[in-house]
Amino acid sequence: VKAKAKKLTQGVAAPERAAVLGAGIMGGGIAYQSACKGTPIIMKDINENALMLGMSEAAKLLNKQLARGKIDGLELASIMSTIQPALHYASFEQVDMVVEAVVENPQVKATVLAETERHIRPDAILASNTSTIPIDRLAETLTRPENFCGMHFFNPVPRMPLVEVIRGAKTADATIAKAIAWASKMGKTPIVVNDCPGFFVNRVLFPYFAGFSLLLRDGADFRQIDKVMEKQFGWPMGPSWLLDVVGIDTAHHAQNVMAEGFPARMKKEYRDAVDVLFAAKRYGQKNQRGFWRWE
Ligand code: CAA
Ligand code: NAD
Repeated sequence: VKAKAKKLTQGVAAPERAAVLGAGIMGGGIAYQSACKGTPIIMKDINENALMLGMSEAAKLLNKQLARGKIDGLELASIMSTIQPALHYASFEQVDMVVEAVVENPQVKATVLAETERHIRPDAILASNTSTIPIDRLAETLTRPENFCGMHFFNPVPRMPLVEVIRGAKTADATIAKAIAWASKMGKTPIVVNDCPGFFVNRVLFPYFAGFSLLLRDGADFRQIDKVMEKQFGWPMGPSWLLDVVGIDTAHHAQNVMAEGFPARMKKEYRDAVDVLFAAKRYGQKNQRGFWRWE
């Protein structure tokens, strides 16, 4: 497998300039990581406040590095200058690669991807950071599906090593190689996975959330479940904390895609824990209310 991967990526350079669509939890993290590792990036959102928040989160993380003496003031300014906030597609013809990280909604993503394809060069690569939506489904509206793949980062991007690179039926080897090259330049460990709802990691993670949902239904207290999973079992975060960090809205949308793909494995009662909070607009850390309060 290693030899095959080496052959695939031989001589393939990481993008010189990139762009990310969405300045939220994931888009902001991808922009920060890309800039820190030397790839200038445009960060585009449709919401000015989200864009400003994405920029200030990057500045906050860099200031932490500055306070620790890991970078100096000049480096901080230089890294920040390579993240270009944008509300429009101006300059997108300059980028070699775009990763889409907008809401986990198949219709919204399909529209955004098709729109982006019209603003980039024919040789530029387009990727989606979708958690669960099959790449072939997203590729349906594209005119160059060979230039499209999944590039699934994990939250928090600066800390999580894995990136799933997802190959669709029409994805070209050169596209996979470019995604691997960029993930590697960002200091990540890319793995190539086949296309299906949830890919690899979320086919493991969502059954875990389903187990959590069933425990709640059987009368367990979410605080106790978290305490046992963290303190006694030794995982870094319990399920309710992790769901709040991921975003209840994102988890809800992702569950729906998984349920469509695997109806027998994602029954309603497996999804209730997330769906009840979603209906109450408790989206987790991002709006200060989820299972926990995040003031
Ligand atoms: N963004 C950036 N950096 C962060 C961060 C964040 N949100 N949270 C923590 N960090 C950094 C801290 O700044 C700190 O950096 P330094 O080493 O430079 O000081 C470092 O991480 C360690 O921080 P802490 O000591 O506070 O935290 P920790 O040791 O408890 O580890 C963690 C933090 C790595 C996030 C750990 O809690 C963990 O692994 N949690 C589980 C995360 C997880 O499972 N993510 C996957 C979510 S699912 C997903 O992404 C897929 C999907 O499709 C939904
Ligand atoms: P988020 O809600 O934090 O951010 C989404 C951002 O997209 C918002 O700022 C919104 O304004 C912006 N947006 C919406 N429509 C847009 C458009 N047309 N053009 C540009 N920006 C637009 O969401 P997130 O958690 O960052 O998730 C983004 C994607 O990453 C989703 O597909 C999600 O499934 C995936 N993902 C999320 C996590 C996670 O833990 N949160 C992990 C891995 C993958």
